[in-house]
Amino acid sequence: MKTNLSLSNPAEVETDCLVAIVLDRTEKDGASKDQSQKDRTQVVIEVSDASVKDAAADVITSGEVTGKMFESTVLHHPAKLKAKRLLLLGGGKANSFSAFELRRLAGAAVRTLKARGLRSFAIVAPETGVKADEAVKSIVEGAIVGNFDSNTYQTDRKDQKIDALTVVARGDQAKQQEAMDEARILGESQNFTRDLVNEPSNHMTPTILAERARKMADEVGLKCEIYGAEKIKELKMGAFWSVAQGSDEPPALIVLRYEPAGAPEKPVLGLVGKGVTFDTGGISIKPADGMEKMKYDMAGGATMIGAMRAIALLKPKAKITAIICATENMPSGKAQKPGDVQIAMSGKSIEIINTDAEGRLVLADGLHYARQLGCTHLIDAATLTGAVVVALGYTNAGVFANDDAMYERFSQALSKAGEKMWRMPLDDEYKEQIRSNIADIMNTGGRYGGAITAAMFLKEFAEDTPWLHLDIAGTAWMEDQKPWIAKGPSGIAVRSLVEFAKDFTAG
Ligand code: BES
Ligand code: MN
Ligand code: ZN
Repeated sequence: MKTNLSLSNPAEVETDCLVAIVLDRTEKDGASKDQSQKDRTQVVIEVSDASVKDAAADVITSGEVTGKMFESTVLHHPAKLKAKRLLLLGGGKANSFSAFELRRLAGAAVRTLKARGLRSFAIVAPETGVKADEAVKSIVEGAIVGNFDSNTYQTDRKDQKIDALTVVARGDQAKQQEAMDEARILGESQNFTRDLVNEPSNHMTPTILAERARKMADEVGLKCEIYGAEKIKELKMGAFWSVAQGSDEPPALIVLRYEPAGAPEKPVLGLVGKGVTFDTGGISIKPADGMEKMKYDMAGGATMIGAMRAIALLKPKAKITAIICATENMPSGKAQKPGDVQIAMSGKSIEIINTDAEGRLVLADGLHYARQLGCTHLIDAATLTGAVVVALGYTNAGVFANDDAMYERFSQALSKAGEKMWRMPLDDEYKEQIRSNIADIMNTGGRYGGAITAAMFLKEFAEDTPWLHLDIAGTAWMEDQKPWIAKGPSGIAVRSLVEFAKDFTAG
């Protein structure tokens, strides 16, 4: 999708469709003396231009437009406008309108208009609740994310997409252009991740994931190293290898490095991703129902690859290394078995209780390796537990942190990116649940608090390094489509990680 910035008068923009946001400014007016009029309904169009206001006036005064979130009203041949259509898009209550809603509205505009066969449109940046450059950024991010669809293998796929978007904005052109360029990188990197996650496991083996990472790295100028089984064994990654040993598909240890000239030696951010390209559960095999979804068990790894793409293009002044542990989790004559004891790269011994708790095993060695490579701060992302879905549903990802200051900074990044994650606890008491009789630690923690005991396991390998763990099992895949986003891979966490990386050396 091409994106153009326009500082013209919205009425003068020649386009197939001009999108304007309408907000509901109705005030609950209990104190009104006029008892016959309890609520004063007031729907306003977020465009100051008089011709656009005039074009929308009749339909707004008719009461047909309420401003409700995602409500869409299309007018053809709007009088006095150069646009062929005017789409009035409801943005909800004016007093709670923010960049978060705007991003979703832009996505919804793309999805509505492409379904009608349009290829291009223009959208007017609203003036309420959002700064001018923030508005441009939110619109472009939301539109690019909305333009993605996951039905790539349908032979009768209608290739409906928006090819060009014009954002009609105000203010400083250079600043808005910068916001637009940054948003494109963020949105396209998120979609890059979604493309990787969308592929079924026969088209996305660890080897293919590594090749895709390498190709991207070459394009954007990142260093990329890819290692196979020999190196994994040589590094004594006994936890990672214990998962990989059961599969005929070779594993891949993918290392991407961003080391810009002029960046300080420290701090170094390490991004560690779970890249299980298919999770059958191994010998502790999963039930057949829903197993097909386990193709997205590499979403954490794909998230880190997408984040590194954006980082390489946005060029923050900080060293950042990504480590993706890619493997299948298969049952076979070579597969590990419950009761086996594995020695992780850090030297800790692990009793395997359930071979389906494989994500924490590959990450244990990924986290340790990141520390060995000199990372001073760690973030991992993984579709780690069904338990996080029980706890937080499909709305919030789980965040775990062993460092409050690092969590606070990440929380700022979340709000800039407009992504929802909820902090979960890591009290020492939970460690009891993963104590083993035969080894240092076991890989499952019983029935209750499963997302937490999984995180407690990882914490053992982050040791004293400030660390965040993102459990994206419930949020990496959209079970249903939404007005602003397709069904399928969501690309959650890419934007927040990049926002975090941008400010990483700032404070
Ligand atoms: N990949 C799964 C977690 C998962 C569940 C991802 C649902 C996406 C959606 C993970 O490897 C797993 O199997 N976890 C087990 C752990 C258990 C055996 C302790 C789980 O959550 O059931
Ligand atoms: Mn599993
Ligand atoms: Zn898994």
